Amino acid sequence: MQEKRRLLMSSAVIPMLVVAGMTTGYLVIASPNMVKPAKAQCSPCNPCIPFNPCAAGGGLATDCTVPLLADAAPNPCAAANPCSPDSPCNPCNPCAAGIAPDLTTEQKVTLYNCLLPQMARAYGKSDNEIAVNFTSYRLYSNQPYISANHAERYVQNYANDTARAYGAYEKAGRFPAGTKLAKPSFTVSGLGRAAIGPLFLMEKMEAGFSKESHDWRYTMIMPDGTVFGTTNGAGAANVEFCIGCHLAVSPDQDSVMLLPEEYRVN
Ligand code: HEC
Repeated sequence: MQEKRRLLMSSAVIPMLVVAGMTTGYLVIASPNMVKPAKAQCSPCNPCIPFNPCAAGGGLATDCTVPLLADAAPNPCAAANPCSPDSPCNPCNPCAAGIAPDLTTEQKVTLYNCLLPQMARAYGKSDNEIAVNFTSYRLYSNQPYISANHAERYVQNYANDTARAYGAYEKAGRFPAGTKLAKPSFTVSGLGRAAIGPLFLMEKMEAGFSKESHDWRYTMIMPDGTVFGTTNGAGAANVEFCIGCHLAVSPDQDSVMLLPEEYRVN
């Protein structure tokens, strides 16, 4: 099983995700190149709009930055090319998102502390109970880490009290109904500015809820508070691909994928 999980965490899974994404629209968020702008001013070159679906990472812009990175690479264009919805498609655009830089643990933790209250507000707009409460759950990752399977975003892993067996990792066994797992995500632009990504949720429902998902309800909440999809509810088709991947560790790990060992809290 370890093997299967390692495989899933490797880049070999990306093509799978791409195929799933093409049918679910998931890559609307993951790949700016595939996106057809929804509005005239919406383009991959214009990530200044707070929630621009075309922007790389597609996240909700925040004022959280990696200070060391911003200091090290001041953008010479910033003054002449301020962020605005009608700013031209210019590689010098100071708002432009780029490839997530490699961050130190300290940088990641500082950034996350800045992001968390903004994430709580953003996801909380959905009124989804887990989205509203997840920050009070126990955190099982010791720092944000990049999840290849959730579109190369930085993520953290939370689990509620009912799910305390999560901390036993591979030995956790079957999770009881009422288990709630939450995975907030964010991206970091080449200039060290963070944007909030979707919130990924799994909730164990009563037996009989869904044969296909082995009674897990998968939900994806966008950073503007809209629900992209939820199993057996609105947009259920949009979260089918979650089930497909997570079932790879069922029944052994009850569909729970866990996290890379070096990022686990013991
Ligand atoms: C291609 C495989 C894949 C897809 C698709 C996928 N996940 Fe995951 N998921 C993983 C892996 C692997 C982990 C654990 C490691 C990590 O964080 O990358 C994980 C972890 C999680 C966790 C933390 C609980 C756990 O399993 O340890 C949640 C919650 C979650 N995913 C929700 C979702 C939701 C919701 C979707 C769909 C919107 C989704 N996932 C799509 C592979 C996938």
